[in-house]
Amino acid sequence: MEITVDTRPLAKIDTDALVTYAFEQDNPIDGPLSALDGATGGALAKLAASGELTGKMLEITLLHYPQGLAAQRLLILGAGQKEKFGTPELRRLAGAAVRTLKSRKVKRLTFVARENDRSAAAAQAIVEGLILADFDSDKYKTDKKPGNEITTAAIAGWEDSSRAAANHGLERGRTIAESQNFARDLGNEPSNRLTPRMLATRAEAMAREAGLAVDILDEKKIEELKMGALLSVAQGSVEPPRLIVLTYTPEKLKPGAPVLGLVGKAITFDSGGISIKPANDMEKMKYDMCGGAAMLGVMRAIAQLRPACKVIAVIPSSENMPGGRAQKPGDVQIAMSGKSIEVINTDAEGRLVLADGIAYAKQLGCTHLVDAATLTGAIVVALGNINAGVFGSDQAFTDQLLASAKAAGEKMWLLPIDDDYREMIKSGIADIQNVSSVKGGGAITAAMFLKEFTGDTPWVHLDIAGTAWQDDVKPWSAKGATGVAVRTLVDLAMKFGSNGPSVK
Ligand code: BES
Ligand code: ZN
Ligand code: ZN
Repeated sequence: MEITVDTRPLAKIDTDALVTYAFEQDNPIDGPLSALDGATGGALAKLAASGELTGKMLEITLLHYPQGLAAQRLLILGAGQKEKFGTPELRRLAGAAVRTLKSRKVKRLTFVARENDRSAAAAQAIVEGLILADFDSDKYKTDKKPGNEITTAAIAGWEDSSRAAANHGLERGRTIAESQNFARDLGNEPSNRLTPRMLATRAEAMAREAGLAVDILDEKKIEELKMGALLSVAQGSVEPPRLIVLTYTPEKLKPGAPVLGLVGKAITFDSGGISIKPANDMEKMKYDMCGGAAMLGVMRAIAQLRPACKVIAVIPSSENMPGGRAQKPGDVQIAMSGKSIEVINTDAEGRLVLADGIAYAKQLGCTHLVDAATLTGAIVVALGNINAGVFGSDQAFTDQLLASAKAAGEKMWLLPIDDDYREMIKSGIADIQNVSSVKGGGAITAAMFLKEFTGDTPWVHLDIAGTAWQDDVKPWSAKGATGVAVRTLVDLAMKFGSNGPSVK
């Protein structure tokens, strides 16, 4: 989809569909709608008066061959209440426009921003919405109908004088949304088409194209590094593990400058291992690599956006299978950090691979860490599939992440970790055990386990088990992998680069 900025008067824009949005408060017709209403000889005012155009969120009003406009269609989407409207809603409306028009075989659309939505940030949100909505999880369908594509989109509402801001937002939005779609595509891949080795190959190809340094550690190197936790998960599978390391280095790197580390869980299939999962829904465990995929998406975006700080992504990847050599409940493993772990439940494998990923990121010089992982079913119980769970060891860094989540329009919610939870992961035989010995707080004790490996390094943990996958299609997005955390972490990296981290 090609996207440009169109500054022509709205009535002169010759497109297949001109799209804008109406608030519930817009009766009588207001803002750019009044210009369109005037051009169409009062068509909109009549629809509003008749009660057909109410502005209710996601309401669809479609006019064909509107009189007085060069456009062939005018689509007015309901935008809900004005005071509840912001960039997240704008992003969704742009997405809803794409999916509504795509199903009607429209090829070209122009999305008109209203008077309050003409900043660079608004342009970015609209473009993100357009590109994210254009993504479909139909890669393996062989009966795809050709021609159901939006080929050209434009954003309008900006004047010639603000064209630069619109273009800036457009480019940034394009980079970020395409990178989020890159992560979604990986998340949708079945495990037979995305083993740890294949994930490493895809990461390597992306890194080369983007101009990032890449290092793929195979099972031999992983053994040399004594990553006993990662290896213990991998040993139950015939597929060998990989540790994927991507590095972005800015042109001017000050000595001693902070380095952002992004650690992503990439279990390409989680059967549970010997503590095997029930058959129901097990097929979904192909998306247990979405933390790693998100980090790859972030790296792809920042390679283009070039923040001022160094960023290193460390992605431990493995299958979790119950093969003859699989680890067994009760086994004791020694992590790269030297800590001993009693594996009570082989299905709590994410924290094992992350333990070594975190240790390696620290060894590479990361001064600040964020990990993303589809880590626990408990986070789904706590927050459903609306908010990702956030845990942090450093108030200022955690606040920065939450601010980025807000700016990026991704819902994330802070949960506690404190030392009282540590008791629950003490082992009778080793330093720690991989699951809690008491019921409840499963997402917190998982975070507590990770904290054993971060030490003093400021760290934020994102549990995306509930938000990385969407079961149903939404008006603005396809079902399947969501690419959650990509936008938040790109925002964080950009700010971390320009303002530096807010260290205590
Ligand atoms: N990959 C799962 C967590 C998960 C659950 C992701 C649902 C997406 C949706 C993780 O490896 C796991 O199995 N966790 C266990 C931990 C338990 C054994 C302590 C869980 O949450 O049940
Ligand atoms: Zn598991
Ligand atoms: Zn898992």
